[in-house]
Amino acid sequence: MTLAAEGGLARELMMPWGVDIDLAEGAMAQPDRVLTRRASAMAGYYRDAAALDALIRAGDPVHYEVFEKTVPEAYGHLLLCVSKLYPGKVGDEYFFTKGHYHTVSGTAETYLCLRGQGLMLMKTASGLCEAAPMCRGRLVYVPPHWAHRSVNTGGEPLISLCVYPADAGHNYGDIESEGFPQRIVESQGKAVICT
Ligand code: F6R
Ligand code: ZN
Repeated sequence: MTLAAEGGLARELMMPWGVDIDLAEGAMAQPDRVLTRRASAMAGYYRDAAALDALIRAGDPVHYEVFEKTVPEAYGHLLLCVSKLYPGKVGDEYFFTKGHYHTVSGTAETYLCLRGQGLMLMKTASGLCEAAPMCRGRLVYVPPHWAHRSVNTGGEPLISLCVYPADAGHNYGDIESEGFPQRIVESQGKAVICT
């Protein structure tokens, strides 16, 4: 195995590689790993627990999927994945991802929206909140220290290409206990932010 000494760090030399991403469909060809979260994985996240239970009993549909290329989860590497959040509502709340801070909280992430319509909710531990529109061709930069959750307010899957430091890690626990102060609900046929 070849080792390269670089910036004082010895690491394994990876050969360059590429991946095909169908930009119109938002599909990654031959992902190494697929993470699937069904409605049942979202217990405790939505305000209307009865509506989530009904959805689970009605077949526990896939809520979202993450298609990944695997790289070492080490400093210097970039992890890239396609996040696909299906359309729908739990009660009046639009489907969303669990949301997380990065465990290494000083790491950023880019979300390039390939398809669909939605919002990226972001918040800091100190109480700042932002909601950034997501639509095809829009890139959202999630700076270090911002928790992030995507919300699908449209009628088709909300698909983004995400790139972030491979050693960032995911801290779901803080969001499980704190939630997000902003929720996106349908009111009179429109997506509105409620607090
Ligand atoms: C990675 C990232 C995305 C999400 C994906 C699913 O840091 O932000 O790839 O992991 O959108 O959302 P979560 O991880 O919150 O279930
Ligand atoms: Zn992230």
